[in-house]
Amino acid sequence: MNKITDLDLKGKRVLIRVDFNVPLNGGIVADDFRIRASLPTIKHCLNEGASVVLMSHLGRPKGEVVPALSLDPVAFCLEDLLEREVMFSEDCISDDAIGLSQQMLPREVHLLENLRFYPGEINNDSEFSGYLAEHADIFINDAFGTSHRAHASNVGVASIATESAIGLLMEKELKYLGETMNAPEEPCVVILGGAKIGDKIALIKNMMGKADSILIGGAMAFTFLKIQGKNVGSSLIDEDNLNTAEEILRLANNTNTNIVLPLDAVAGPKLSDDATWRVASLDELRNNEAGYDIGPETTMEFEMVLSNAKTIIWNGPLGVSEIPAFSTGTQAIASAVIDQTEDGAISIIGGGDTASALKQYGLDKGFTHISTGGGASLQLMSGKQLPALEALKEYA
Ligand code: 3PG
Repeated sequence: MNKITDLDLKGKRVLIRVDFNVPLNGGIVADDFRIRASLPTIKHCLNEGASVVLMSHLGRPKGEVVPALSLDPVAFCLEDLLEREVMFSEDCISDDAIGLSQQMLPREVHLLENLRFYPGEINNDSEFSGYLAEHADIFINDAFGTSHRAHASNVGVASIATESAIGLLMEKELKYLGETMNAPEEPCVVILGGAKIGDKIALIKNMMGKADSILIGGAMAFTFLKIQGKNVGSSLIDEDNLNTAEEILRLANNTNTNIVLPLDAVAGPKLSDDATWRVASLDELRNNEAGYDIGPETTMEFEMVLSNAKTIIWNGPLGVSEIPAFSTGTQAIASAVIDQTEDGAISIIGGGDTASALKQYGLDKGFTHISTGGGASLQLMSGKQLPALEALKEYA
C-alpha cells in the first residue's frame, strides 16, 4: 500500500476521499475537528504543486438530494482554514463538476457535493466509481472515518485509479490504532466505557495479553460486577452478554490481564438533568438506584493504575457524560491521562462518543492521538480489517 509521500504529485490532479461528515448548526460547521485533521494531506498536495479535488459524504441522505446535508458550508470552513479559494460543485459526478476538475491549475482546490446524494455511493456502483475516477490522475484515501465501509468513493475508485495511496491522516490513524496497539510499550492500560459489552467484545479480546490492565467503567461495568455477585441495584445490565462477560473474566485470568472494576458509583433513582444523586459504594447501592458514573474511590483506583502506564488506550465514556452530574469520572480520568501523556506516555483516544465527551468539557488537548473515526476506530482497535484499506492493498 503506497503512502502519499511515495508519489510524485507535481502538476497532477489528485482526488482525495476525506471524511467531512461534520456536525452542522444553522448551516455552519459546528465542529471542524475532522476538517482540520485533513489539512496536512491537502497542504502536502498543494505544496507539491498538485491540484486537489475533495470528495466526502455528510450524514445519511439515502441516495437523495437533501439540501440540509449539502457540503457547501464545509467549503466556507475549508476556505478559512486553508486561507485560499475553494471551488464548490453542486454535484459530484456531473459533466460540469468533472470538467472543472479537468481544467484545474496547480494548487487549486475543488470540493464536490455530498457523495451520498447518489445511491451508487453506498452500493459501490462501478459506473458511479468510474465517474468519480474521471476527476483525477491519482486517488488518495484519507477518510479514516469511513474506511470500515465498502463504498464507491473508497473501494470502487481504488480499483480503477491508476495510482493510489493513503493520506497523512490515514497513516497517523493506522500508526496509533494499528501498530501501537498491536505492540504497545508496557505497562499498557486500556480504559473502557460505554453501555454495552457487545460493542466492545472484539476490542477487549484483541487487547487481552497485550494490555497489563483494563479499567472498566460506564454501564458495561455493572454486567461484570453482576457476574462477580456484587450488588448492582437497578443499574443497566447487558443481559445478552452475561456469558461473554464471564468468558472475558476467565480469559483475563488466563492471560494475566488485570481487570479493574468500579468500587463505587455516582448513583440515583433516575437519569435526567435534574436527577438527585449520591456517591454510593456498591454494597450500599439501593434496589431502586442505578450507577451513572464511576465514584471517587474508583477514580482514585483508576488514577493509580494509570500513573505507571506507558501506553494508554481509551474507548468509551466512563459515565453518562452528556449530563454534567455524571461526567465527573470521565473528566477526572481525562486529566489523569493528559498528565501521564505529559510525562511521556502514549495516549490513544477512540473517536465517536469518547472524543465528543472530551470535547464537551474542553479536555480534547494533550493526548498523543484522538481518532477521527467512530465505527472505523472501534473496528481497527478490535484488530479487524478495514475494507477501504484492503482495496488499496489489492490494487495499489
Ligand atoms: C462517521 O461519522 O463515523 C463516519 O463519517 C462514517 O459515517 P457513516 O456511519 O454514516 O458511514
